[in-house]
Amino acid sequence: MHLSNRSRTNPPSGIRTMFALAANYPDAANLGVGEPNYATPEHIVERAVRALREGATKYTPNAGIAELRKALAAKLAAENAIPGTERNILVATGACETLMLCISSLLDPGDELLIPDPCWPNYLGQVHLAGGVAVPVRTYAEDAFHMRAKSLEEAITPRTKALLLNSPSNPTGAVLRREELSDIAEVIRRHDLAVISDEPYEHLLYDGRVHVSLASLPGMADRVLTVNSFSKTYAMTGWRVGFVHGPEEIIASMARLQENFSSCVNAAAQVACLAALDGPQDAVEKMRLGYQRRRDLLVEGLRSIPGVRCHMPEGAFYAFPDISAFGKSSEEMARLLLEKAGVVTVPGNAFGAAGEGFLRLSFAASETTIETALERMRAFLTSLA
Ligand SMILES: Cc1ncc(COP(=O)(O)O)c(C=O)c1O
Repeated sequence: MHLSNRSRTNPPSGIRTMFALAANYPDAANLGVGEPNYATPEHIVERAVRALREGATKYTPNAGIAELRKALAAKLAAENAIPGTERNILVATGACETLMLCISSLLDPGDELLIPDPCWPNYLGQVHLAGGVAVPVRTYAEDAFHMRAKSLEEAITPRTKALLLNSPSNPTGAVLRREELSDIAEVIRRHDLAVISDEPYEHLLYDGRVHVSLASLPGMADRVLTVNSFSKTYAMTGWRVGFVHGPEEIIASMARLQENFSSCVNAAAQVACLAALDGPQDAVEKMRLGYQRRRDLLVEGLRSIPGVRCHMPEGAFYAFPDISAFGKSSEEMARLLLEKAGVVTVPGNAFGAAGEGFLRLSFAASETTIETALERMRAFLTSLA
């Protein structure tokens, strides 16, 4: 059989490459995975079980069940200051598929999508699959990886269609402030561009930071597709439910495309997501406080290792330490840490050229795993110095 050119040249995710390597080291302390180690809150699980018994076992409309779309429109209006109705909402299989639908809806072959560098590597694979061109907008460690409006503007060409923004950021933990978003919005409006704003970590914020959705800024609602997910907020990664808010005609077109991808999201999972939105939110806050403790533990531990520098992540659940002082590439360092120290990390270059010299370490793991990883890293890195 002949593999298509597009599938042969689709870039692999450096995160998945590390997972595959790590499978050979079952005793390694794993800080590679961007997945909550918390269980999905019980009332959500119970609602899914009941939904299955009550017959939520059939196809649903392409855009999702009406009750969930309505509840999501209400959530976005109340929490994110993005007005709309269920006609502005589409439910899809995780933020993953939601993003693929957004990218497929906006880009024609050869069109350029601006993406932050470093960024979550799936964006690159998705743009490639849609026949588009991903153009990096470099961000800098000295700005704690906040995107500068000036760098954004410099990357715009006549082929630029849209910007993909991700705040809080995977992998850097950067949370853009309202003023920074206003400057970015001004560039977007002036160049008449669209934006895909990927916000799955909106509830994972530390030290009093607040999440601002770009679509809530003046004149932006018609230009922004706001993507989100139940995966991180409610520890529901395996349920695969994401959603997007956008102009009605784009959402209607995505619903048509959805028929070709997965037709619709698992029916019982959609009902469970209604319970997540309607039910008590204290589990979300408890998990956030847990991540904050783990962040402090991890970052303080990393900073105490000679040669490691680490900015404090403002959101999400990743530390992004600078390990360039050891004179090894990020890929070599991640491999050595796995093979010699028994610690799984992800090399920074998996997130773009600007990630070279850094590692991504997830603090969605347990405190015991974080402590073990720190001890092993300290011993190994000290032996290198
Ligand atoms: C920035 C970002 N966007 C989207 C996703 C995909 O999330 P989901 O599980 O909803 O597909 C992830 C998952 O790691 C992510 O880090």
